[in-house]
Amino acid sequence: MEERLHPNLVLERKGAIEILRVDREDSLGALNFEIMEALGNYIQDLGARKEDVRVLVVTGTGRGFVAGADIVGYHKVGQTEFDNFQRRSRKTFDAIANLPQLTICAVNGYALGGGLELALCCDFIFVNEKTKLGLPEIKLGLLPGGGGTQRLPRLVGPMRAKELLATGRMIKAEEAVQYGIALEACSPDGLMPRAIEFAEELAGQAPVALLESKRVIDDGLDTALSAGLTMEQRVLGALYATEDGKEGIAAFIEKRDPEFKGR
Ligand code: COA
Repeated sequence: MEERLHPNLVLERKGAIEILRVDREDSLGALNFEIMEALGNYIQDLGARKEDVRVLVVTGTGRGFVAGADIVGYHKVGQTEFDNFQRRSRKTFDAIANLPQLTICAVNGYALGGGLELALCCDFIFVNEKTKLGLPEIKLGLLPGGGGTQRLPRLVGPMRAKELLATGRMIKAEEAVQYGIALEACSPDGLMPRAIEFAEELAGQAPVALLESKRVIDDGLDTALSAGLTMEQRVLGALYATEDGKEGIAAFIEKRDPEFKGR
């Protein structure tokens, strides 16, 4: 069942998985203020539904995933509106990165500037032979403003991030996997089926442990190693005390499939 959240955002619900598609083919998925706001509102709502929805898949339409911020719109705005757009995109992108649920970005085409930055807010990136990724803002005399200077080096290291930022060059699927930006490269037709298959695999895991697996890693990366290790043991102890923790161990001993309840 598909629902249009905004003229350029389509949502499909599949049990514990939601698929959000940017639908703005004529501009290759470029994001303007209204789309960014609608996306942010949806993400905020999704974050409050973690009991029901455990995985989000984000994708695009046609040749574009998201070819960045709407540069045609940039041309018409003054400094205040420009700054407002950057603040709005920060809010939306932070909300995606901080979602409790697991997120998968299926990059079907161009993911440039804000498009790559949106993908970098997701936990997993899948690409295909049509994917082209890059931060081309240098070619406009600008820099990325949606986390590209911060999230990319944390993923690929500072040297590769500086190279991609300073040249603005586009990379394809193979390089994206090689640099650790993407988890897997798929065939053009295989991208969505594979992203959904992976989403279903995740959604089938013990729900509390699944969300904690994300939170512990992300929170740990923001802290010192010793504090992260302490947090890991605290979370494991709490999971051991859950019904699902007891069920998982009992099912292993009884040689049967576990029935997780999410508590
Ligand atoms: N903002 C607004 N419109 C965009 C856009 C963007 N970021 N990227 C592409 N479009 C629009 C083009 O203006 C064009 O519209 P038109 O048909 O009305 O002229 C349409 O999408 C198709 O793009 P076009 O450039 O004709 O396609 P192409 O195959 O020749 O090139 C790209 C594709 C992605 C390489 C090229 O569009 C591009 O470089 N886009 C800008 C990417 C960018 O700099 N992003 C960072 C923004 S901060």
